[in-house]
Amino acid sequence: MLGPRDDRPALPSSPMSLVIENGWPRTAEWTGGELRLGGIGVRDLAAEFGTPAYVLDEEEFLARCALWRDALPDGEVHYGGKAFLCPQVVRWLDAAGLCLDVCTGGELAVAMAGGMDPARVVFHGNNKSVAELRRAVAWGVGCVVVDSFTEIERLAALAAEAGTRQRVMIRVTPGVTAHTHEFIATGGDDSKFGFSLNAGLAAEAVRRVLAEDSLELAGLHSHIGSQITDLGGFALAAGRMAAFLTACEDEHGVTIPKLDLGGGLGIVHRPGDPVPPSPAEVVAALRAAVPSRVRLAVEPGRSIAGPTAVALYEVGTVKDIPGVRTYVSVDGGMSDNPRPAMYGAAYTAVLASRASDAPERPVTVVGRHCESGDVLVRDLPMPADVRPGDLLAIPASGAYQRSMASNYNHVTRPPVVAVRDGAARVIVRRETEEDLLRLYV
Ligand SMILES: Cc1ncc(COP(=O)(O)O)c(C=O)c1O
Repeated sequence: MLGPRDDRPALPSSPMSLVIENGWPRTAEWTGGELRLGGIGVRDLAAEFGTPAYVLDEEEFLARCALWRDALPDGEVHYGGKAFLCPQVVRWLDAAGLCLDVCTGGELAVAMAGGMDPARVVFHGNNKSVAELRRAVAWGVGCVVVDSFTEIERLAALAAEAGTRQRVMIRVTPGVTAHTHEFIATGGDDSKFGFSLNAGLAAEAVRRVLAEDSLELAGLHSHIGSQITDLGGFALAAGRMAAFLTACEDEHGVTIPKLDLGGGLGIVHRPGDPVPPSPAEVVAALRAAVPSRVRLAVEPGRSIAGPTAVALYEVGTVKDIPGVRTYVSVDGGMSDNPRPAMYGAAYTAVLASRASDAPERPVTVVGRHCESGDVLVRDLPMPADVRPGDLLAIPASGAYQRSMASNYNHVTRPPVVAVRDGAARVIVRRETEEDLLRLYV
């Protein structure tokens, strides 16, 4: 059977010093065939909190924050809030000394609800509204990443109106295509994000920002994509961005103090997936390409949140179509994890609630939605006696799942339950049908 028991290396003496790159949180263990997370068995978790549920290992989250912070002690680590955000996450980031990247007014509101100092917030987005920009200026957001000429004008006017000087970074697309899915590659010339370096738009953006008295150019920014598992793209983008920064400084006689090279580091989802470089290796590759006088910033999202959570589902039906396929239907699906349907993202799942000696056979794990594409895991070896009432666990479910969850088919979105040292607490409660009905007039 695939599972954390088989491929977990021994824990180091300091649990904070190493992140185990096998997709499972560090406290995952098996007892008598049952998966335990944070010292609690999944049967107890399911009985208390219901399914589907996202179970998040608090120790793993904090360890991953610490790993990035320690990799860049003289720079800035902005957690990419789009991966997964709630007020408790904001409090963990604060405790770990991380900053936060948000990309909508909603994410900014969560940051504030969690008590984040607005000065430690970076505000992204290719189409921020005037209202969102006004709020960012009024609340004293540390840095706005400008993404279009229209936005430079808008923000300059809003900052002038507020009688303040807003710090900005300019988002640059450095012409680097990361080896990842087309929809999550953002650094090539044909991108809705930022200003193209190759087309000369980035140089023009620098000119326009410098011409605005109400804007302060705090740095340049690039983000080339997500789920990247090799260093080549990071190093290439860093080199191009560093050369551009130096050229701008020379041309305009200014200092541009910071280079923010975004997020994008991938994670392991399944046994056999490429093991990504460590945060320290990523930072070393970036640092090697950037002059030491320039402050480095990074924005990891998935590589912090991804391996911290396990999605827990209950099997509802098992349908054998002789000679064709066996479908195992669970009580969640594309509404809580749209990534397989959107990007063809590949996951594994394991029988988590009991031991089984039954031989394995391939099954396809599907959700409960009215779409044939509502597939969570295709052709997965699973004990042949898998049956209704069993619990399945999908590791590496902490990023871009609960944060992308929808109410498709009017299902209610699952809770996030944090576990640590044998205790569990809800940090995002399960939505109810009352929540859904409240919207209708
Ligand atoms: C600007 C920016 N920064 C950071 C991130 C986080 O990326 P990841 O979760 O791949 O680390 C993203 C993700 O799309 C992004 O768009």
